[in-house]
Amino acid sequence: MKPTRRDILMAGVAGLAAGALPRAAAAAGPGPLGELAAAHGLGFGSAFDREVFDDPAWASLLTSQCKIGAIENSLKFDWLRPKGPEADFAVADRLVEFGLKAGLRLRGTALIWNDWLPDWLKWSSVKDRRGIFERHIDEVMFRYAGRVTSWDVVNEPFFPMHGREGGYRKGYWFDALGPDYIPDAFRRAAKADPHAELVLNEAFCEQNDELGQSVRARLYDLVVKLKQDGVPLHAVGLQGHLKPHIRQDYGGFADWIALMAEQGVKVKITELDVDDSQLPEELRERDAAVAETLTSFLSSVLPVIALEDVICWQLSDKYSWYANAEWYPKDRQARSHLFDVEMRAKPAADAVAAALAASPAR
Ligand code: XIL
Repeated sequence: MKPTRRDILMAGVAGLAAGALPRAAAAAGPGPLGELAAAHGLGFGSAFDREVFDDPAWASLLTSQCKIGAIENSLKFDWLRPKGPEADFAVADRLVEFGLKAGLRLRGTALIWNDWLPDWLKWSSVKDRRGIFERHIDEVMFRYAGRVTSWDVVNEPFFPMHGREGGYRKGYWFDALGPDYIPDAFRRAAKADPHAELVLNEAFCEQNDELGQSVRARLYDLVVKLKQDGVPLHAVGLQGHLKPHIRQDYGGFADWIALMAEQGVKVKITELDVDDSQLPEELRERDAAVAETLTSFLSSVLPVIALEDVICWQLSDKYSWYANAEWYPKDRQARSHLFDVEMRAKPAADAVAAALAASPAR
């Protein structure tokens, strides 16, 4: 039988994993994950935001475990410009300074996103909105050029449930500028900071359901089109908010990543965590299921050599974004991340360490 792409991918890993796994498992706890990843040519990091200023235990966990820091919210349009077009960069400046001092490679999330936009933008004319869009990209990228070196230029372009032709996510940018807002944002960003890494970030692709499959197909076509048109797109970010309650197909997802990478893009997992909202309440069982989900996901995707970074969406349950997600049970503390609310490693951290240790080198 002709070997499939997957057989070929996995053959390389099996050889490596056989040697690498026992050594990693014998290490005392998970050593700094950033170091472990780096030893395999991978970047590892986490989202963080203003909580680092007042929580030294969190700041120290972040900076000891990570090589990459993704600024979770403070560079987003609604956080920078909540009341009108003038930006307040005070918090973002402090976060960038904090990250650089700690030696983190910084990522900005997200320049242009059709979600979470302030109401005032709704009242702008279509013509003004184009100006605001360009001004936002120019000001933010120019300000942090050489310091925030990787950007989600466009976040979550697709949301088929909005019923727009092409499956695009609706919102103030899309409604005013149409689908061309995507290449326009990339071209503008490349002008504002020609050295930055420009990333197209998307949700849902890791899900093996109708939504996941449909977003995968649309994103793939978009990447092909952007590359054909010479748009400066360097990498695709796949969020990886894993949902163990949805049928999994991480092998198929990995194959799809490898195919997309053939278009000449790098790939990153940008927002890794596990939605444990439907896992058993009992902690040991829940932690084991979270760890198992991470093992299954990472052992499928890390063999894809084009995958260069793994970034968690927060590292400790203490600052889990699920606490404020409207669908998350209000009476439950999320156990979605690698470390608990006391910054202690959970089985999830060991699972990630073992998967990184077994990853083929880049
Ligand atoms: C989330 C933040 O974590 C929350 O704190 C904020 O209130 C809303 O945004 N996909 C994304 C991220 O691309 O930017 C989102 O972050 C989580 C889902």
